[in-house]
Amino acid sequence: MSHAIIELKDIDYAFPNRDNALNGLNFHLHHGEKLGLFGPNGAGKTTMLHILMGLIKPQRGEVVLFGKTMQDGASFDEARLKIGFLFQHSDDQLFCPTVLDDVAFGPLNQGFGKDEARQKATEALKQVGLSGFEDRVPYRLSGGEKKLVALATVLAMKPEVLVLDEPTTGLSPEAKVRLIEILHGLDMARLVVSHDPDFLSATTDRLRAMRDGSIRPGELKPHTHTHVHEEGDVPHQH
Ligand SMILES: Nc1ncnc2c1ncn2[C@@H]1O[C@H](COP(=O)(O)OP(=O)(O)OP(=O)(O)O)[C@@H](O)[C@H]1O
Ligand SMILES: [Mg+2]
Repeated sequence: MSHAIIELKDIDYAFPNRDNALNGLNFHLHHGEKLGLFGPNGAGKTTMLHILMGLIKPQRGEVVLFGKTMQDGASFDEARLKIGFLFQHSDDQLFCPTVLDDVAFGPLNQGFGKDEARQKATEALKQVGLSGFEDRVPYRLSGGEKKLVALATVLAMKPEVLVLDEPTTGLSPEAKVRLIEILHGLDMARLVVSHDPDFLSATTDRLRAMRDGSIRPGELKPHTHTHVHEEGDVPHQH
C-alpha cells in the first residue's frame, strides 16, 4: 500500500501529431505535503495535471491515486470526488446557469442533499468574498470573479487534496491575500502550479521545477537579492 496520494510513473504523452508534451515523467505527492510547481510556459504542467485527473490518457505510464492504480473512467470518477482541482482556465470549470449551481455541483456529486449542497456552496462563496453572487451568471463575470467562483467550487468539496493550476491568474492583490489566508487555514495536501514565486513561497513548503515535459531533479530554493541604485532612498516598488 502506497503512502502517496498522487503518483505518476513514467508518463509519456503527446497531443495528436505533436512531439511529446510529457517525457518519462515521474511525480508523487504524499499525505500532508504542500508542493509548489514552477516552470516555463509550455513545460507541460497543465498537461500533467489533466493526466492525473484522468481528463486525458497517457500513451505510456501509470497513474496511482490514493494507492489505487487508475484503470478506467470509473476509478478516476471515484478518485476525483476527493481531489479539489482548479483548472487554469475558469471557463473549463464553470458550466451551470448560476454561480450557486456551479459551486453546489461538487457537493451534490459527493452525495449531499440539495439543501446541504446549497449551504456548502453559500459558505464557500463567503469564504472567497463573493457572498451575493449566488444568482449571477458565471460566464458574465469578470476574469478574477470567475477564478474566485472556480476556487469556491473546489473549496465547497472539502477535498482530501488540492490541485491548483495557476490559482492567482487575474486576482487583485486583495483577492490574492485572501486566497493565501484561506490556504493557510486548510491543512490538506496540495499541489500548486504557479508562475508567482511569492505566492508559492507563501502557500507551499517545497518547490519543484518542470521543464520540457518532466520534473527536474532536486528542489528549488527560493532566495532574495539585495540591490543598490540611485533612487534607493526614495520609497518605491519593483
Ligand atoms: N490541446 C492541445 N493540442 C496540442 N498541443 C497542446 C494542447 N495543449 C497543450 N499543448 C502543447 O503541449 C505543451 C505543454 O502545454 P501545457 O499547457 O501543459 O504547458 P504549461 O506548462 O501548463 O504552460 P503554461 O505555463 O503556459 O500554462 C505546449 O507545447 C502546448 O503548446
Ligand atoms: Mg498551464
